[in-house]
Amino acid sequence: MENQKELAKVPHHIAIIMDGNGRWAESRKQPRFYGHKVGVDAAEKVIRACTRIGVKTLTLFAFSSENWRRPSQEVDVLMGLFKTVLASKINQFQKQGICFRAIGDRSKFSKPLQEEINRAEILTANNQKINLIIAANYGGRWDITQAAKKIAISVKTNLISPDIITPEFFSKYLTTEQFPEPDLFIRTGGEKRISNFLLWQLAYTEFYFTDTLWPDFNESDLVLAIDNFSKRERRFGQTSKQMESEPTCLSKE
Ligand code: FPP
Repeated sequence: MENQKELAKVPHHIAIIMDGNGRWAESRKQPRFYGHKVGVDAAEKVIRACTRIGVKTLTLFAFSSENWRRPSQEVDVLMGLFKTVLASKINQFQKQGICFRAIGDRSKFSKPLQEEINRAEILTANNQKINLIIAANYGGRWDITQAAKKIAISVKTNLISPDIITPEFFSKYLTTEQFPEPDLFIRTGGEKRISNFLLWQLAYTEFYFTDTLWPDFNESDLVLAIDNFSKRERRFGQTSKQMESEPTCLSKE
């Protein structure tokens, strides 16, 4: 790919807040759900581009714990889209070598959607090209809380001593446990906040914000974000000089 030659450094893990679907549709005098539908197409294109570029893990924020507060019709559309995408794209996932994982509290989803999620995870478990993590009914605070609860139970039942709880130990209880932390975070749609996304995991991530609305976000925009990322110096608390002689990488390989 032409774009790939120019990329100095490819992030191992990219996490994206796909914002702006509603505004994109409204500006075309279309109902908001149309924006989400076209948003799925944009997601597909970005997944393909990440695979080509060599990104190993892509996390997409599809539905936050707070999105239940939206009008019930819109919530239904998003749930329906999620289920349809999983059911209809599973063969494509297989062909593209996509290993699918969902993070978030799936117990709130309908049984058929939960089954579709489980099925996709099982079928794609051995695919190696790219990890596609969909954050659905996910919240960063929820993730940290569920990890704390599990650890508290282990302490209470004397399985572990509180002394062994370090940040590294804690992170193993997060839903992203087996994945490296994101190197690059992208938010489309102009807002500059992380909206309860991967709160713990974004500690050392490079942030990139763009005004482009998610349905318009394409491979060129992705390359622009990666190019911007590749020019940044990540110091992980060290000095520039130290990074030259003894670089540290906090992400798991
Ligand atoms: C934010 O736009 C987007 C969402 C809340 C949903 C994102 C979902 C998709 C792109 C479809 C599902 C994707 C997959 C891969 C299953 P917004 O509605 O908040 O936009 P606005 O800020 O313009 O109102």
